[in-house]
Amino acid sequence: MAPAIAVLGAGVVGLSTAVRIQEEIPEANVTIVADKFTKDTTSHGAAGMFRPTLLLTPAPSEEIFRRWCEDSFRWYDVISRSDESAAAGIYPISGYELSSEFKEYPYHHKIIYNFREMTPLEMQSFPGNYKCGWCYTTLIIECRYYLPWLMKRFRKNGGKVIYQTVKNLDEFTEKYDLLVNCSGLSSRELFGDKEMTPIRGHLIRVKAPWVKHFLIVDNADTYIYPGQDNVALGGTRQKGIEDVTYEQVHFDDVMRRCCVAIPSLKTAKIEQQWIGLRPFRSVVRVESEEVNINGKTLKVVHNYGHGANGVTLSWGTAVQATEIAKQMLQKARSVHSKL
Ligand SMILES: Cc1cc2nc3c(=O)[nH]c(=O)nc-3n(C[C@H](O)[C@H](O)[C@H](O)COP(=O)(O)OP(=O)(O)OC[C@H]3O[C@@H](n4cnc5c(N)ncnc54)[C@H](O)[C@@H]3O)c2cc1C
Ligand SMILES: *[C@@H]1O[C@H](CO)[C@@H](O)[C@H](O)[C@H]1NC(C)=O
Ligand SMILES: *[C@@H]1O[C@H](CO)[C@@H](O)[C@H](O)[C@H]1NC(C)=O
Repeated sequence: MAPAIAVLGAGVVGLSTAVRIQEEIPEANVTIVADKFTKDTTSHGAAGMFRPTLLLTPAPSEEIFRRWCEDSFRWYDVISRSDESAAAGIYPISGYELSSEFKEYPYHHKIIYNFREMTPLEMQSFPGNYKCGWCYTTLIIECRYYLPWLMKRFRKNGGKVIYQTVKNLDEFTEKYDLLVNCSGLSSRELFGDKEMTPIRGHLIRVKAPWVKHFLIVDNADTYIYPGQDNVALGGTRQKGIEDVTYEQVHFDDVMRRCCVAIPSLKTAKIEQQWIGLRPFRSVVRVESEEVNINGKTLKVVHNYGHGANGVTLSWGTAVQATEIAKQMLQKARSVHSKL
């Protein structure tokens, strides 16, 4: 019998995992269950730079983190070179990363392309007194294109979608052989993972077609990322703050810092100001669990807690979550055939 799999969540992690499962377990019947889609997800608003930072997104081990990064980068890289690039919103992007202090090469320097130190001439072209600077080419994944692109692929593969706020898991034990939990920050009161913390971020999108290079200052405290339709300006990282009430003071601060880095941004027209909550966890959780619900067991594969790196790592963690799902289904089948 075809296994029935539910994926909880339709952000970049849920959609990636749903598509990966369909393509690796073609006999499976996959359903996405979520209460937020496209524009309403955190993923939609993210800047979408491929810039893995182990510190901001702790993994179980350095080796696992590297595998997530490499699997993701390879996937995005292939799309960026195909004629699907524009529809999927995935492009190569080149630019500069500046620091006020001397720093070791960043984690991703061996994964992305063209990494080198900036020349003194390049350093001089930026106002301010920076001690070190790097130049590289990475990829940008704009989720307002990428999420619909994934959803189209999911539906084409025969996937089903249910719009629903999941309050308890009773019905899942009846209907599904496996639940994949890609619920992001979710409601911690409901499920109670106390290791989840929001990290609030503010992002401004401006019209500035003259900005063609990305610029990252001091560990992405400040960043400027040109995208397909506008330029994303950030950022803030406010740990433990869940309140998404609009307060202009934070956006003014972002704008001020970006204009110091690139003064010509002063005349750029603001298109959007957005507040998002990064789903931070002490360790990104990609693992299996058998959850007991009213005496019945529900097989769960967790895939959440991607913090500041959800877009960067989504495909890589989807690859691993799918491997785990496969093993769990195989195990269940072999137990079944012995009976
Ligand atoms: C300002 C800002 C900038 C960022 N920039 C980048 C960047 O440049 N690069 C990068 O890699 N990352 C970036 N991120 C991080 C990225 O946005 C997140 O890591 C990522 O979006 C997490 O994806 P997700 O699928 O886990 O969660 P989400 O996109 O939040 O999706 C969660 C899904 O779960 C569903 N759900 C949850 N609970 C329930 C329930 N009870 N019932 C039904 N459905 C439920 C929701 O409906 C939703 O569909 C940024 C984040 C912010 C805030
Ligand atoms: C897939 O699931 C749906 C809904 O649960 C069901 O109607 C359909 O028959 C299933 N298809 C297969 C091939 O099992
Ligand atoms: C799903 O993830 C949330 C965190 O987003 C967690 O609190 C919860 O325990 C998980 N749900 C299940 C069914 O295990």
